[in-house]
Amino acid sequence: MCGIIARIGSDDAADTLLTGLENLEYRGYDSAGIAVQNGSGVKVHKTSGEVSDLKSKLNYLPTGNVGIGHTRWSTHGPPTEENAHPHTDSAEDIAVVHNGVIDNYAELRSELAEKGHVFQSDTDTEVIPHLINEYRDELSTEAAVRKAVETLEGSYAIAAIVEDEDRVYAARKGSPLVLGLGTDDWFLASDVPAFLDYTDEVIYLEDGDVVVLEPDSYEITDLSGEPVHREVDTVDWDPEDAGKGEYDHYMKKEIHNQPTALSNTIEGRVEDGEVSLEALPEGSFTDVDAVQLVACGTSYHAAIYGAQLLKSAGVRTEVIRASEYDSVAGPVDENTLTIAVTQSGETADTLGAVREAADRGARTLAVTNVVGSTVAREVDDAVYIRAGPEVGVAATKTFSSQAVTLTLVGQRIVADLDHAEQAEDVEAMLESLSDLPEQVEQILETTDAERLAKQYIDSQSFFFIGNGLGNPVALEGALKFKEITYEHAEGFASGQLKHGPLALVTEQTPVFAVCTGGDDGKTKTNAIEAQTRGAPIVAVSPDEHPVVDTADAHLSVPDTHPVWAGLLANVQLQLVSYYAADLLDRPIDKPRNLAKSVTVE
Ligand code: F6R
Repeated sequence: MCGIIARIGSDDAADTLLTGLENLEYRGYDSAGIAVQNGSGVKVHKTSGEVSDLKSKLNYLPTGNVGIGHTRWSTHGPPTEENAHPHTDSAEDIAVVHNGVIDNYAELRSELAEKGHVFQSDTDTEVIPHLINEYRDELSTEAAVRKAVETLEGSYAIAAIVEDEDRVYAARKGSPLVLGLGTDDWFLASDVPAFLDYTDEVIYLEDGDVVVLEPDSYEITDLSGEPVHREVDTVDWDPEDAGKGEYDHYMKKEIHNQPTALSNTIEGRVEDGEVSLEALPEGSFTDVDAVQLVACGTSYHAAIYGAQLLKSAGVRTEVIRASEYDSVAGPVDENTLTIAVTQSGETADTLGAVREAADRGARTLAVTNVVGSTVAREVDDAVYIRAGPEVGVAATKTFSSQAVTLTLVGQRIVADLDHAEQAEDVEAMLESLSDLPEQVEQILETTDAERLAKQYIDSQSFFFIGNGLGNPVALEGALKFKEITYEHAEGFASGQLKHGPLALVTEQTPVFAVCTGGDDGKTKTNAIEAQTRGAPIVAVSPDEHPVVDTADAHLSVPDTHPVWAGLLANVQLQLVSYYAADLLDRPIDKPRNLAKSVTVE
């Protein structure tokens, strides 16, 4: 959460900083600010609200070739202008942007206040420029920055600029920071889309790295000042991927991008009726006797979906909400494989869970979208879902790509453990996977989701039910719906409706019944139980499914193998949520109170 950017070059930085911040707004959008250094001081411009509010507030673009910027998701202090970053020292000659949480800020703040430092905000970040200022009395700025970050407890990615210095100072511990190597300028940012328009050459910084950028050089050192070497990577994302293109919202673009994303996810991974994963060759899992999947939110639903194949093949498998790991995870030893499922690779709860599993002796694997993310660097192995950048806060294409990747990883495990004979009709399943992108396309072209969203928009509450693989789809359908429409929505295992939630059912509660295979007879029965109490039923199923005859409305799912059908149903539900939120005029890409990359626990 929170996005930071820094840029140094020979011409003015402000425009690039603002564009970069817009591309980072998925990380938070409570308040925004920039600071530039132009030889006549450090100038800070900030506001509560979004980057667009900051732009409207700026009557002119401030000049200066060195600058930093920030878009905030509040942790300490409400999203006011005072609490917006950059923060400065009392003399306003050092400006700092920060992503992370400083655990010892209260002690530091009172120590600094006793020494005469005056604070303007409620944030933890503000101690950082004051610390640098304090240490600069006796040290060079670089040494002062180094000493300041050594004093901090907690997590940080910071960037600082200083009056009259043609430099950016930066450091990271526990929060992402990537260096972009342009031709005429250098960048630092929380994530690559911030500067993808300018360069695809990047260095993923490590915890403990301190960076000094000058207009024509950069240096990476460790906390003691020793130079460290970091590899330069080339990012294979297209700058187009990071923009909205012809679409009104990133979410719509990303829903429509699913055929491409899925083709990339699948490419080269199924050969001669077998799963082939570069990072995990045949035999990689022969020692595994239990699998844990840890994840949050939409990724948790993808994990439930992806775990189904392992479970049905008889592999001991638990799916655990990462935030609950400490209290609910079963026994772990060196034969346990813990899979962190996280699109961003930065979710604090998921990182916490997989670190805990590693401490207890588990082997660890990440299934993630972001190359170079913290999770990818910390685990034993990583498999990338290759969905391309996802900017809309509501995860869409990454759910589909995660569920497919996890199913493939699951099949690799099953094959290695000789459970292959228990995994039903593997060949048919793998063969039909290649049709999935085209079937998603078919839904996008023919969906009735917009009409149904209009029909039911005035309802009081929205229920989603499903069994087996339909269950994570129902849970995901409800999460998406509540997240972007702000309407009440709940997802249930179909059979649970009659054990309590049925009390809420009226003609004002449409029930979306996901019937895509498995034990759908029950889902149909449970849907009828709700219908009997007045609820309209929307069947999300293949055309031939018996539920269609009794349902009040239907969202069609093309015929495919039952393992993939739920993913198609999910696309229909993504579209229902999208159109409902659009009708309600919600800020679809930036729902209130949320951020895409949740880097606090
Ligand atoms: C919902 C959504 C969130 C994320 C969750 C985990 O649309 O996007 O629920 O799925 O915060 O994020 P990652 O996958 O980055 O770990």
